[in-house]
Amino acid sequence: MISATSLCLLLTIWSALTYFPVVFAADPSIDLGYVKYIGKPGSAIKYANNSAAPYHFALPYAYPPVGSLRWLAPKPIYGSPPSTISIISAIVPGPACIQGVPAWHANPFASPTCPVSEACLTLDIITPNNANNLPVMLRIHGGGYTEGQSEYSNGIPDLTHSKWAFVWVTIAEYLWWPPHHETNVQVSQFQDILQETGCPDVACLRSWGERKLANVTRKTYVTAYFNHQYGYGDFYFGPVVDGKVILDLPSREFERGRFRQVPLMTTHTQYEFFIFSNGTMKTGLELISDLKQFFPNATNPFVEQIILLYPTAKS
Ligand SMILES: *[C@@H]1O[C@H](CO)[C@@H](O)[C@H](O)[C@H]1NC(C)=O
Ligand SMILES: *[C@@H]1O[C@H](CO)[C@@H](O)[C@H](O)[C@H]1NC(C)=O
Ligand SMILES: *[C@@H]1O[C@H](CO)[C@@H](O)[C@H](O)[C@H]1NC(C)=O
Ligand SMILES: *[C@@H]1O[C@H](CO)[C@@H](O)[C@H](O)[C@H]1NC(C)=O
Repeated sequence: MISATSLCLLLTIWSALTYFPVVFAADPSIDLGYVKYIGKPGSAIKYANNSAAPYHFALPYAYPPVGSLRWLAPKPIYGSPPSTISIISAIVPGPACIQGVPAWHANPFASPTCPVSEACLTLDIITPNNANNLPVMLRIHGGGYTEGQSEYSNGIPDLTHSKWAFVWVTIAEYLWWPPHHETNVQVSQFQDILQETGCPDVACLRSWGERKLANVTRKTYVTAYFNHQYGYGDFYFGPVVDGKVILDLPSREFERGRFRQVPLMTTHTQYEFFIFSNGTMKTGLELISDLKQFFPNATNPFVEQIILLYPTAKS
């Protein structure tokens, strides 16, 4: 039902950084002083057919958020480099993060199509040959916490002759996905997980294996959908303004000038919303009811405005 490619396009952003502290050597390797990652020549990489650019896969950028670190803010790995220099092979793509499946998806209990793990805070680096101190373009993939990974890459450019290095990163995509659920929805999500697991608290949830917990989470997507807690096209679990990791809605943060000024290259996708709409809805009333589940606090004028902006397609 849902097209992975289009979904990812919707949620893709690029940001150019000029201060990434990486020195590129020729072998291809990335030397961080205390660790050296040995990469793979580009021609062997499945998703960059024609690129001769070397790749380095799955470099960790934070401690794996597993066990007692589950759901905590990422813990930096720098600051305590190992005393001996290690050489690490970086030729195998890292796993995607564990992903949810909205119940309106064709198969809410389908197995993941690629390896998944909570230990997914890694990035891939693509460089031209013999790159040295190049500016770095950072790409954060999309997917609504339901798909996507650093390796997931529409339109990777051929970097053979590039004057840039590229970093693909697996990172929470809060920026362009404004939180829209109220606190009561998050409370209900939490209660549902506690009920499914029989756990009394978060400490207990941290002791669960990731597969079992992912399975239980999938069940809560299904229960909530059939209890009309979210609408078709909504991902249900999403970013939360908690005042600590996410301080406020992105619109308000931008308004207050609370953003970092870096060169930014961004794209948008047109005519994609049909992917997120239930094609079997027949009446305007069904549409309104779905929209009100999608935007739980929507007023009638807001819903009317959406219907004006997205008129029904003529068949
Ligand atoms: C890679 O090459 C194959 C064979 O030439 C081609 O069919 C495919 O579309 C290419 N894929 C990309 C992503 O360019
Ligand atoms: C996941 O849930 C399904 C459906 O309830 C169940 O059949 C399956 O055994 C569960 N798998 C794991 C690994 O818990
Ligand atoms: C689509 O909408 C119809 C009408 O409201 C509803 O009966 C059906 O269950 C919905 N389908 C999905 C997959 O949610
Ligand atoms: C949204 O609705 C809930 C009750 O349904 C209410 O508690 C909450 O304050 C509302 N939020 C806004 C921003 O109006």
